Amino acid sequence: MKLTALGLAGLSIPGCSTDDAQRVIPFSAQGLEADSPRWNDLRSHFGLLDGVSYLNNASIGLPPRVVSQSVADGYRAQSEDPIHAKHDLQDRIRESTLPLLARFFGVQPEELTLTPNASVALHLQAVGLNLRAGDHVIITTQEHPAGRKPWKYREARNGIEVTEVFIPSPLPSTEDIIRRFDDAIGPRTRAISFCHVTRGGHLYPVTDLCEWARARGLTTLVDGAQAVGQFGIDLRDMGCDAYSASLHKWTLGPCGTGFLFVSRDASERFSSSFEPDPASTSYGAPGTADFAIRASVGTAIEFVESIGMGQVEARCRYLSDYLKSALESQSGVRLLSGERDRSAPGSTIFEIDGVDAIEAVDRLAALNIHIDEHQRDGHNAIRISTHIYNAANEIDNAVRSLMELSV
Ligand SMILES: Cc1ncc(COP(=O)(O)O)c(C=O)c1O
Repeated sequence: MKLTALGLAGLSIPGCSTDDAQRVIPFSAQGLEADSPRWNDLRSHFGLLDGVSYLNNASIGLPPRVVSQSVADGYRAQSEDPIHAKHDLQDRIRESTLPLLARFFGVQPEELTLTPNASVALHLQAVGLNLRAGDHVIITTQEHPAGRKPWKYREARNGIEVTEVFIPSPLPSTEDIIRRFDDAIGPRTRAISFCHVTRGGHLYPVTDLCEWARARGLTTLVDGAQAVGQFGIDLRDMGCDAYSASLHKWTLGPCGTGFLFVSRDASERFSSSFEPDPASTSYGAPGTADFAIRASVGTAIEFVESIGMGQVEARCRYLSDYLKSALESQSGVRLLSGERDRSAPGSTIFEIDGVDAIEAVDRLAALNIHIDEHQRDGHNAIRISTHIYNAANEIDNAVRSLMELSV
């Protein structure tokens, strides 16, 4: 299987070689078992420094070399021939990046708005929903601040009533989650807003929730920042009305990329102060943008697609299962991530008796092991998030170093 960096061919870059030697990635994941040592070969396609264990992929992913090269080439072209390069990049975004992104998520390009991150998309979707004072929206206690804040803004500015339903960790059953939403519903409820995958890696029954909401005439707004890129997603099948995502986490896009999806069928329920073109449902700001970065999203999608989303999911799942069994054999460790159907493939959260999660992050960073804390919802949890390029021995080292903090 070959990977070519999408769009380099379509972008004429003075003085920049676009020959195949530079663009082809000779890594085949087809038929590769999730525990195969051959996954280690993938590491050479990333620029991560030797000796660094990067186990914090839920914060920000590692763009592969082809992606950082694509960004660098775009900026170089803009510095050498600004107007031509700008037009080339805009053409590339319109003609290949957006169609590729739309196909990857099973939607139409006109339904997508590129954003710098999920936070902006979450703001646009919450602020864009047409609501009147006194209307009611249900969110959960597990929202990321970027998902909660726009609703707090609407509460204060527009008189919208917002209920946060309590959802515990580990995540309960689908029936239990739906019952909690059901208990919060009232005569003025208009929408529900929740994560597909939470910051801590809990995997919500998103299709069931969308179906439940649709049957009650409620609009569904989903935070997909932690979901996209870990497994295949078809937004049309999912049945949500709006979906916000980061592309610089699991999808391995360049830092500063994300999107908002608003379904064509739901578009009359949303507006934008940016006065979108009536032919599209684009909600973003017009004007000069980070064209080189946006155009490189296509390169990232090509990279993950060349590996295959099924393979990405299986590899991520293998590594987090490996981590979970390493943790289960330790005393004083409590796993907060649920079973497979309740936890995303790559993120795991857990508490260790006597270990402060924030302190643990700093202590491991001093050893060049990068993890994160999840001190939220009353928990003092540590988060380890592993992607396809991580290895089992990195997990062994991280667990050993963490357990040394507890003695
Ligand atoms: C669940 C969730 N939503 C939203 C965000 C914000 O993402 P971004 O940094 O792309 O704005 C994050 C970031 O970690 C997140 O975990």
